[in-house]
Order: sequence, then C-alpha cells, then structure tokens
Amino acid sequence: MQLLRDPASARTWCEEVTAQGQTLGFVPTMGALHAGHVSLIARSVAENDRTVVSVFVNPLQFDQSSDFEAYPQDLERDAALAAEAGADLVFSGRLDQFFEGELDEHGRLPGSSLRDPGPAAVGLEGEHRDGHFAGVATIVARLFQCVGPTRSYFGAKDYQQSLVVEGCRDERGHPEVIVCPTQREPSGLAFSSRNERLSSEQRMHALHLARALRAAQESWRAGVRDAAQLDAVLEQSLAPGVAARELDVEYASVRCALSWSSDRPAGELQTAVALIAARVGPVRLIDNVRLDLEPLVEVESP
Ligand code: PAJ
Repeated sequence: MQLLRDPASARTWCEEVTAQGQTLGFVPTMGALHAGHVSLIARSVAENDRTVVSVFVNPLQFDQSSDFEAYPQDLERDAALAAEAGADLVFSGRLDQFFEGELDEHGRLPGSSLRDPGPAAVGLEGEHRDGHFAGVATIVARLFQCVGPTRSYFGAKDYQQSLVVEGCRDERGHPEVIVCPTQREPSGLAFSSRNERLSSEQRMHALHLARALRAAQESWRAGVRDAAQLDAVLEQSLAPGVAARELDVEYASVRCALSWSSDRPAGELQTAVALIAARVGPVRLIDNVRLDLEPLVEVESP
C-alpha cells in the first residue's frame, strides 16, 4: 500500500489507475480510523479494483478551534489500519496543498471560495455548527476533483452530511455516493474518533443517545407516526441523563427521511430518521437511526 503526503501525487496515482480502466473506490476521512471507517474501506475494496483513503483533518469544517486542535492525529497508525482493511492508497496533505494559490495572507480560504452546501445544510447540525457544512462541501468537492473516483463511501452515522455530499456530485451524477450503516461498539455506542476523548464514566453516559434512539424505534414499531410525539419520546428518554448532568442535549428530533426540512415535519410520517446531538463532558457526539428501516439498536441496559 502506498502512503502519499501530498494531494498532487495522489492525483497522479489516481489518474494512472483510472487510465488503465480500473474502478476506483474512495473513502474520505479525517483519520483516527476506527471500525466505522474500516467498514467503509472494506465495502469499497469489495466493490472496486482499487481503494483510496484520504486522511485530512479539514479546518474549514470546524466551528470551534478547540475541537480542531484536540482532534486525534496519527497518520502512520491510520495507514497501517487502512492497509489491513485492503486499501491501496492513503493520502494526506495540508490545506495550502489542497487549495494551492487560493489561500489569503493569513493562510485562510476566502469565503468566496467556499461551496454552497445546498438545502440539506439547514437545521439541526447546520443550525448548531455555523459554517460546518460549507466546509464539508468544499473539501469533499476538492477531494472528488483530486481522486476522480468511480464510487465514494460515506457513513450513515453522519446522516445530514451524507445528504449534503449527495449534493456535491457533479452534474453528470459522478461519483456514485454509497451510504453505509453505522457501526457500533458492543455497548451500543456508535464508533467515533471523538470517543477517544471520553473517560470510562463518560462512555456510559454517552449510551443515553443510543437508548433514546432505541426508544424512538420501539415507539415507531408500536405504530407512533406523529413527529411531535416521536420527539417527545426522545426527550423523555434523554431527560434522566440531562437531570443528572451527564449530558447536555443540543437537539433530539425526527425528520422525514425522504425530504429534508429544517423544522420538525408536521403530522404523520411515512419514513423517519431520529437524530441527536449532545455533549458528554468535553465531547460533542451525534447519532441517528432510521426508524422505518434499521434493525433495533442493541444497547447495554443501565
Ligand atoms: P470522519 O468523521 O473521519 O468520517 C469519515 C467517514 O466515516 C464519514 O463518511 C462518516 O460518516 C463515517 N463514519 C464515522 N463514524 C462511523 C460509524 N460509526 N459507522 C459508519 N461510518 C462512520 O466525516 C468526516 O470525517 C468528514 O466530514 C469528511 C467527510 C472526511 C470531510 O472532511
């Protein structure tokens, strides 16, 4: 497996592969790879001739510099994990290499160069993380240009991001965007690079998210279709954790899975996704589940 530390060399590598008529699968990441990332790489390896993984902690998408600075980074470890999962190329780079000649005198990308993240960027994550999705859309579009993949792989864990990314495809509909299921630890906690910063006690508190999602799934299965009622189930399930100051909820709400809206949809839902963002200690966690499709979340009892 190759490890390249600049996007220009990665671009050449990818151009050579596609010129040979091989299919190229692409998994963009910010590193600190875990079983969630590995599942995307494995899916790409199974479906393409070659698989490329990018590792870049993208400063454009962080609304808080403390979160950016605390983000775990270890490229050698990530490359070893990606190689084990069957990747052919891991590449990284600096912001000035991804946007060569485009940064201002302070090393920042001018706002005019940011991409419009489209209609899926409103509400929930978009409302709580100012500029986040413009930063995601901008880097994803640049990574797509660099790699020119046949298929790209994203996690359902970042549900709203996957909707934004679908909007980043070019006008010809390339690359294909494949959204893969959320991988969870045996406890029920969704894998996340930020979990590394949780103490063992905070990891227990983090399970409130998965339990609330499970409660919403059970209500759905019992026939509840009203969005306000499903939101109330999430809220009630999270309330003990909030009262015990074990978590600080930013949002917990359902959306129609077929058409994104910034506000909670009114009335009965045919399809639904429940989404939560909450802080546990120093870490902001997000999680979600499709109520109409996914198997019940398996979560440790308190
Ligand atoms: P990162 O958080 O590193 O995630 C990379 C990919 O892994 C994303 O598509 C994310 O949804 C997926 N992923 C994360 N946790 C997962 C889990 N538990 N199960 C399944 N998939 C999971 O998301 C980003 O990076 C960035 O925003 C990026 C798209 C790379 C742009 O900078």
